[in-house]
This record gives sequence, structure tokens and C-alpha cells, in this order.
Amino acid sequence: MSERIAVYPGSFDPIHNGHLDLIERCRPMYDRLVVAVLRNEAKRALFSVDERLEIIRELIGERHPAGDGGDSGDSGDGGGCEVRSFSGLLVHFMDEVGARVVVRGLRAVTDFEYELQMAMMNRRLNPRVETVFMAPKEEYNYLSSSLVKEVFSLGGDLTGLVPDPVLARLRRHFAKA
Ligand code: PNS
Repeated sequence: MSERIAVYPGSFDPIHNGHLDLIERCRPMYDRLVVAVLRNEAKRALFSVDERLEIIRELIGERHPAGDGGDSGDSGDGGGCEVRSFSGLLVHFMDEVGARVVVRGLRAVTDFEYELQMAMMNRRLNPRVETVFMAPKEEYNYLSSSLVKEVFSLGGDLTGLVPDPVLARLRRHFAKA
């Protein structure tokens, strides 16, 4: 039987506990889960893609070859979970890694329209691709990377919402700014 491979795509700028919860819960559902960080030069990000890859790898315990950095060339094994970057269309990346399933978290009704639109466009572009929506743990239902950055920059307490390595990097970034 062929491997069941799923891709969890996103900006992850930065990754937070809602993302991590979703990764942990969908990991056992597939033979391989690829966490895919979008390289989008047009979007201003707080963390570079390489920094985001490094943070996620640290958190999911992925071993990866030295000299990482390039699109899709950076893989490793973290117990069926790996972290890669991609640019261009998600459906092209899906073909490249041989995945059929896109995993996305659905927090509130407000996510629904955008997510449904993306799921349908992705299926239109590549009929092999199906999107699976997962509900986050209740305590992370309101959590987003944008809120994490805003709350941190204004001195709010993010305890329990982001992992320590992210907190440490947020401190470093905002100390520099
Ligand atoms: O975490 P985000 O920013 O909500 O993730 C959005 C993401 C990366 C999943 C989406 O922007 C994406 O897939 N971009 C790749 C380009 C693409 O395929 N666009 C067409 C989507 S229908």
C-alpha cells in the first residue's frame, strides 16, 4: 500500500501552541506529515524562513542534514514528521512530496470562508488533493501568529500559548528592534 502523506502548510511566523497541538494530533493519522513553511518574499515576516524552519525542527525533534536552507531540499525524519520550505503553488509542492492530503486548522467561523475557498481552488488545480480540517484544542481557538506578535510587542503575557524557544526568539527580535 502506498504511504499516506499529509502536508500541513502555513506561514508559521511564528509557530504557536495551536499549531503544535494540531501537529501532535494529526501525526499518528498519516505515515508522514510534512510541515511546509511558505517562502513568500512579498509578505513581511518577523522571522526569516530559515529561522522558522529551525524553530519548528527544534520543537518536533527532527534530525536534518547539515546545510539546510533551500526549497524542498531540506528534509529529515522526526518520527514521521518533517519540516520543509516551499515556494509557488502548494499543489505543486504536494505532487513533489507525493502527498494527497492538506491539513489545516479551523478555529472560528471567520476562518471558514477563506479556508473553504483555498481547499476548493487547490482541488480544482489538482483533483488528487483533498483538504482535511481539524479543530484546535479549545484553549487555542483564538490563537494566531499575528496576535502572538502583537501581544508580545505590547508586553503581554504569552505563557502557555507559545513554546519557550519561540518566546526566547521573540525577546531577541524585539530587543534588537
Ligand atoms: O498560515 P497561513 O498564512 O494561513 O498559510 C497560508 C498558505 C501558506 C497555506 C497559503 O497561502 C498557500 O498555500 N500559499 C501557497 C501559494 C498557493 O498555493 N496559493 C493558492 C492557494 S489556493
